[in-house]
Amino acid sequence: MPTPLIAGNWKMNGSLSLVETFGRALSDADLPPQLDVALMVPFPYLEAAARSLAGSRAAVGAQTLSDQASGAYTGEVSGEMLRELGASLVLVGHSERRTLFGEDDTAVLARVRRALEAGLRPLLCLGETLEERDAERSEGVVLGQLDAVLAGLDPVQRQQLVVAYEPVWAIGTGRTATPEQAQAMHAAIRRRLASHDEALAEAMPLLYGGSMKADNAADLLAQPDIDGGLIGGASLKIDDFLAICQSAG
Ligand code: PGA
Repeated sequence: MPTPLIAGNWKMNGSLSLVETFGRALSDADLPPQLDVALMVPFPYLEAAARSLAGSRAAVGAQTLSDQASGAYTGEVSGEMLRELGASLVLVGHSERRTLFGEDDTAVLARVRRALEAGLRPLLCLGETLEERDAERSEGVVLGQLDAVLAGLDPVQRQQLVVAYEPVWAIGTGRTATPEQAQAMHAAIRRRLASHDEALAEAMPLLYGGSMKADNAADLLAQPDIDGGLIGGASLKIDDFLAICQSAG
């Protein structure tokens, strides 16, 4: 059984004072013993987050990284830089990156590889659009996104991955996948992983993301193949975030 993971994705939100608030609250919190916690903050807050979360159980992560190691790429940030600022994880392939910034499967794989080279754990996001779900193509789309990354990694690299299933139609919409819909996709992901490597399938944390909140987290997390959550909006409110962490225990 993978250790459950609750990861907050602040997106382009938050402030230095919110970082301090989370640092204090997470350091004081009585979290379930079997739980990993992570906070994926905007680049400029990484160092402060690493400092204020140092006394807590929460790890610090970034939300994307460059597909290059270094060089003339104005505005880009490398995995090495993230690592130097205290990040241990990084989101890759979030649907906002895929749709708003044109990151296709090739770009996602390149970033996963860079993350691994830099010693960061990639948190790979997969998900179908509403159009794809209505056309009953959800599973094909999601497993295709997964295969595109697995095919480019060796068995040891694959062990570093965390996967988050985030149906695009559930992100930021308040419309959560039902526990049954989410479980069905998680089971399909787990089966696909097992077709590569049974041990990998058993050990990899599979997170659900998409309007996960304090009041629906317990039902989602009770599903056998849902090992945690990737939380957007509700990760900006400390009480909501802590309540979700409690439901994962
Ligand atoms: P949400 O976002 O919880 O606000 O739906 C989830 C995500 O985009 O990771």
